[in-house]
Amino acid sequence: MINLDISNIWGEYTLNDLLALEKEVFTAHRTLIDGKGPGSDFLGWMDLPVFEATEEMRRIAAAAKRIRESSDVFVVVGIGGSYLGPRAAIELVKGQNHNLRGKDPQVFFAGNNLSTRAWQELCALLEEKDFSINIISKSGTTTEPAIATRALKWMLERKYGAEEARKRVFVTTDPAKGALRQMAAEEGYETFVIPPNVGGRYSVLTAVGLLPMAVAGMDVTEVMFGAASAKRDMDVLSFENPAWLYAAGRNLLYRNGKAIELLCNWEPAARYFGGWWQQLFGESEGKDGQGIFPATVEFTADLHSLGQMIQQGQRNLFETVIRFAPLRKKTMIELDWKNLDGLNYLEGKSLDFVEEQAFLGTLAAHVDGGVPVMLVQADEICDRTLGELFYFFELSCGISAYMLGVNPFNQPGVEFYKRNMFQLLGKPGYEKK
Ligand code: PA5
Repeated sequence: MINLDISNIWGEYTLNDLLALEKEVFTAHRTLIDGKGPGSDFLGWMDLPVFEATEEMRRIAAAAKRIRESSDVFVVVGIGGSYLGPRAAIELVKGQNHNLRGKDPQVFFAGNNLSTRAWQELCALLEEKDFSINIISKSGTTTEPAIATRALKWMLERKYGAEEARKRVFVTTDPAKGALRQMAAEEGYETFVIPPNVGGRYSVLTAVGLLPMAVAGMDVTEVMFGAASAKRDMDVLSFENPAWLYAAGRNLLYRNGKAIELLCNWEPAARYFGGWWQQLFGESEGKDGQGIFPATVEFTADLHSLGQMIQQGQRNLFETVIRFAPLRKKTMIELDWKNLDGLNYLEGKSLDFVEEQAFLGTLAAHVDGGVPVMLVQADEICDRTLGELFYFFELSCGISAYMLGVNPFNQPGVEFYKRNMFQLLGKPGYEKK
């Protein structure tokens, strides 16, 4: 269950200012529910969460089982919304070092950059390993994953021969359109669907996220159960809904000069979750000269770098802190009779206790320093909590973007770099005018 604590945001504005936004939040949420706003043909993400496994989820589970039996490594090829969700999910639940654990297949990500160094490193890692690949691209034409796909396909065919290679390629794409759909049909690859009404950054609860999660050993029915519970809880049209509080809180702060939002994680495993959140809000809101700039920090590490800026730099930011319920299994700080490090005052205390004091101390310092803080309180990290968080942030983002007056579901600005790059690369159809 997700709770939002906004008791640390008040400054020149008060609870009454937030409550005054009720009609706006209501209208934004209703616009989503009624499908009447800009981009309304991309609202499929609202119907994805389900309490019972769908046929697609059963196919995903079956494919994941085969992949887990046949592969040491699973390479997930994709960028943007076709990359950040699966990586966020696997790292949050299985941990940053999931690839070193040995029990599940290793999951590597490719096609999310154009670095020769990263590519050659991956090739070296794949040597002598049995591997399968999952090509994820809704359009099927994105350059970065397309280049990685061409090379990985060739590596598979050389290693296993055409017939076995075919069984090791899994394609997640549009059900009808695009070069990837066509390639899958011609080559006979198993395919999964990104529904046409689900945009990239809202696609984590489709096969985009679910197949990699299942291969990594996660329980995708639990992830979906979490998302479905969040959807049920957040259908409420009132400030009891945490998505309402979050969307209204961040808009109130934005209108009062807080143009930067820092998502603060106290769990290193949540780094890529921060990346997913950053894309969700950045691409959804940053347009028409509008938008809260979404940045991420990791505490306590970043308290020793950006902490100074947060405490005493320009007062143009606010924080959204994600707090997970602590682990039941504790790590204790032991007595060291020499006490050369001077830490004996912590003897018998748990690491959690120390972390909680660091959190409370940081919260008080930042609030005193003029940084409003919203707290997102979630249960212990697990598949279900992950699903809840995904839906909570997606819904909040849709509401918040409509409150800003922008279309949450397009990303026209992303095309500009592509056009220049294609022109420079000499892609047919992009010749210099
Ligand atoms: O959110 C989005 O729509 C984008 O970030 C896309 O996911 C990204 O550009 C990749 O696109 P595609 O899945 O078509 O390869």
